[in-house]
Amino acid sequence: MTLTWQKRLIFCVVFIFFMGGLIGHAGENKKIGMDVAKGKEIFHERCAACHGADGNALLPNAPSFAKGERMEKTDSELLKTIKHGKEMMPPWEGVISDEEQLNTLNYVRVIVGDKVFDDKCVKCHEKIPGIPPDVPDNKALKDYSGTIKICKACEIEKELSRDEQIEVIKFIRYLGTLKK
Ligand code: HEC
Ligand code: HEC
Repeated sequence: MTLTWQKRLIFCVVFIFFMGGLIGHAGENKKIGMDVAKGKEIFHERCAACHGADGNALLPNAPSFAKGERMEKTDSELLKTIKHGKEMMPPWEGVISDEEQLNTLNYVRVIVGDKVFDDKCVKCHEKIPGIPPDVPDNKALKDYSGTIKICKACEIEKELSRDEQIEVIKFIRYLGTLKK
């Protein structure tokens, strides 16, 4: 079968997009400094082809984690699928360790916050800031209706939806736990 020039063109464009994504995301880790989020690395390397680098799935039937799909399930339910696979989802047992599977799942749970941080915070915060102690804990945030003051020095909260505020806080706290 010979390829028409249109098909070649489409192939090139897809390829360039893919490489651009890889390079872009390798650079992104800089903001996390030397505490590279292992789960993020694994996600980009092994999962993003189907689940999307930003968590919006590319493969039909694969859940979009950025939309919270399947995130109502418990860690142990999700880890079971990660380990043993399901339908089009390949099994990861023996490919990555149990700890890496958990790291990746933890990253998936904060993928929206990672995006918010990239879009809104990283231009001023190269290093991840510490969330002030008066911000309610993650569980309480869900039902909290008061104002959430995140940034000491700017009014960036006003540019974010309530969900985005919560997701960026969860992301920053998650990175905090990684450093220990
Ligand atoms: C070849 C495509 C593909 C790759 C690569 C892939 N997945 Fe999936 N994944 C899927 C599909 C399709 C589903 C939906 C399976 C179903 O429920 O039928 C899925 C489902 C999931 C679910 C939801 C499981 C559940 O119980 O509802 C999680 C979590 C998940 N994948 C994580 C990952 C992680 C982490 C990686 C990388 C280590 C990964 N996936 C790599 C295709 C993929
Ligand atoms: C226009 C620049 C700017 C933007 C945009 C910005 N910040 Fe800040 N932020 C600062 C400065 C300056 C400080 C005070 C110095 C410091 O603590 O780093 C600060 C402080 C903070 C602190 C307190 C840090 C501490 O240890 O007390 C948090 C938390 C924070 N910012 C979160 C965020 C988040 C989350 C975003 C994005 C949603 C964001 N900031 C966007 C400039 C900015």
